[in-house]
Parts: sequence; C-alpha cells; structure tokens
Amino acid sequence: MKILVTGALGQIGSELVDTLVNRYGSSNVIATDKKNGKPDFACQFINLDVLKNKQVEKIVKANDINVIYHLAAVLSAVAEGDPDLAWQVNMQGLRNILNIARKYNCSVFTPSSIGAFGPNTPKNKTPQDTIQRPTSIYGVTKVAGELLCDYYHCKYGVDTRGVRYPGIISNKTLPGGGTTDYAVEIYYEALKKQKYTCFLEKDTVLDMMYMPDAIEAAIKLMEVPADELVHRNAFNITAMSVSPQDFADSIRKFIPDFEIEYQVDRKRQKIADSWPNSLDDSAAREEWGWNSKYDLDTMTEDMLEKLSNKLEINY
Ligand code: NAD
Ligand code: SER
Repeated sequence: MKILVTGALGQIGSELVDTLVNRYGSSNVIATDKKNGKPDFACQFINLDVLKNKQVEKIVKANDINVIYHLAAVLSAVAEGDPDLAWQVNMQGLRNILNIARKYNCSVFTPSSIGAFGPNTPKNKTPQDTIQRPTSIYGVTKVAGELLCDYYHCKYGVDTRGVRYPGIISNKTLPGGGTTDYAVEIYYEALKKQKYTCFLEKDTVLDMMYMPDAIEAAIKLMEVPADELVHRNAFNITAMSVSPQDFADSIRKFIPDFEIEYQVDRKRQKIADSWPNSLDDSAAREEWGWNSKYDLDTMTEDMLEKLSNKLEINY
C-alpha cells in the first residue's frame, strides 16, 4: 500500500500522517500540502497544490500511490468569507483527485461534514439519509463532494469512501477556520487564562469528536472490505453532542476556577444554527463497526494533560 495524504499540515492531516506512518511504515506514506510548513513527519513531505493537476498526477504516478486521503479543503468560516476559493479547492480539488484516482486505480478517503446538513434537516438523531439543503458555501461543497464521490464509484468504479465528521477537537495543530474551532480554543485558554470568551451561544449543541477517534474512523473505514459498505461516501459519525456550556462544565471538573463568557459572532452562530444537534451514526456502526472511545470528560482529561505538557502550564 502506498498512501498519499493531501492537506497534511492541517488539523486532521498532521495527526493522521503520524498514525499512518506507525501503521504502514514511513516509506509507504507521502504527506503533501500547499502550505510551506515545518512538518515533523517521519515520512517524505512534498509541497502540493491539489489544484495543480499535473503535479498531483506526477507524484501519484512516480510513487505508485494506490490510496489517497484527500484532506485539502477550506473550512466553513473561511469558506463563507471567500466562497470562490472554497468552490475551487473543495470542488475542483476533489475532482482532480478523483480523476487521478480513476486513472491510477487509487482508493480515496474524502471527509464530508455535519456542514452537509441544513436548517430543514431533522436536528435530533439526524438520519443517515435525509434532507440536505445546507445554507453555507462549505455545506454546498460538502454535499456536492459526497455526490461526486458516489458518482465516481457508480460510473467508473473508483473505490471512494468517506465520513461526515463532526467538530474535531485536538491538541497538535490548531483548527483551520471552522465554526467548531471554539471547542479547541477553550482548552488552550482554560490553561493559559482560566477564562474563555466563546463566539457561539452557550446552548448551541453540535456533534463533536476527539482526534484519536476521528483518525481511527478514517483508517478503519479504508480497511473494511468494499462489499460490506452500502453508504460509501458520507457515513454519519459522532462521539458526543455538546454545547459550549457543557465544555465549560467539563473543564471545571479539572480547573474549578475556569470561567466562560460569550461574545457571539453572528456569522458563525448562523452556520452553527443550521447544523444538526446530534447525528444518528447507526449505519457506520452496522456497516463497518464504528465506535467512539472518548466522551466529553475523558477527552477533557486527556486534552488538558497533553496541552499542559505542550504549553508547560500546570493546572
Ligand atoms: P484544515 O483547514 O486544518 O487543513 C486543511 C489543509 O489543506 C491545510 O493545511 C491547507 O494548507 C491545505 N490546503 C488548502 N488548500 C489547498 C490546496 N489547494 N492544495 C493543497 N492543500 C491545500 O482542515 P482539517 O480540519 O484538517 O480538515 C480536513 C478535512 O476534514 C476537510 O475536508 C474538512 O472539511 C473535513 N472536516 C474537518 C472537521 C474539523 O473539525 N476539523 C470537521 C468536519 C469535516
Ligand atoms: N469543524 C468544521 C467546521 O466548523 C465542521 O466541518 O467547518
């Protein structure tokens, strides 16, 4: 197996690459990103813009790539500020990857999101197959991406797979400009200042997940035999359904003096209000054995421990 990861310097990619390297060996993973970072990966890193088709093809061909984790994307809040860029990266970038996957017989993992749902989607226990009329450009690209991946599988036989990730919480790389970013920031600020000003309202409930579960989901889905999958490209998955207030309560179990206040950003609140409260992830559980390990308190304990080491702040 030779694996290419796009968008590898992002929040998810930066941790997925480490796990892939541990699992499949450093010579079998190539990490790529448009950004010029200082990657600490134990595998090869190449600068790659997924909009540069010929470059992508050259790398896939030269390295006999047969699995692509396609993470290069523009997230919800940034996308809303630049819809043209979001369309280019999230749609044209995906199409480039799918065309190359078709030509070189690669399987492709592409994350969708809770953002693929909209205000008239059932909010609680949101079914796997339901109304999807998102009102953000991010959501529009996510639904179209799900459909495009289905199309490449049905029409050309490309082995496309994907999940609808909820908001992801992690401690290695900061999130890239999404609506759920508060759920990461809150831990950094809890340690630095014992105080956080949240940009969403206190009772805004959204699905969330800790990074180790998010990574396990991606790899597990890519390893399952293809004939066991019915919903290939957009499995609902979730680990918890929580609000900013719930995060604050959980943090207070470890940092009793922690305070939260609210200064609502109307743009991101509008996006959050259009997303579900809780996903029904039974299709993922039934078809490929999806299960999360972390709940809110076990995640909080681990986040605070890891961040306290990273930031060298005791609590
Ligand atoms: P991120 O914003 O942290 O990282 C995206 C990476 O893509 C960045 O490193 C960026 O430099 C790179 N990139 C942007 N344009 C590029 C281009 N043209 N060519 C190559 N690289 C480019 O995003 P993430 O959180 O790691 O998300 C990865 C995927 O998971 C995305 O599809 C996202 O929609 C999805 N997702 C993420 C979350 C979350 O909470 N993090 C939730 C749901 C879905
Ligand atoms: N965390 C992502 C965002 O807020 C959800 O897809 O954009």
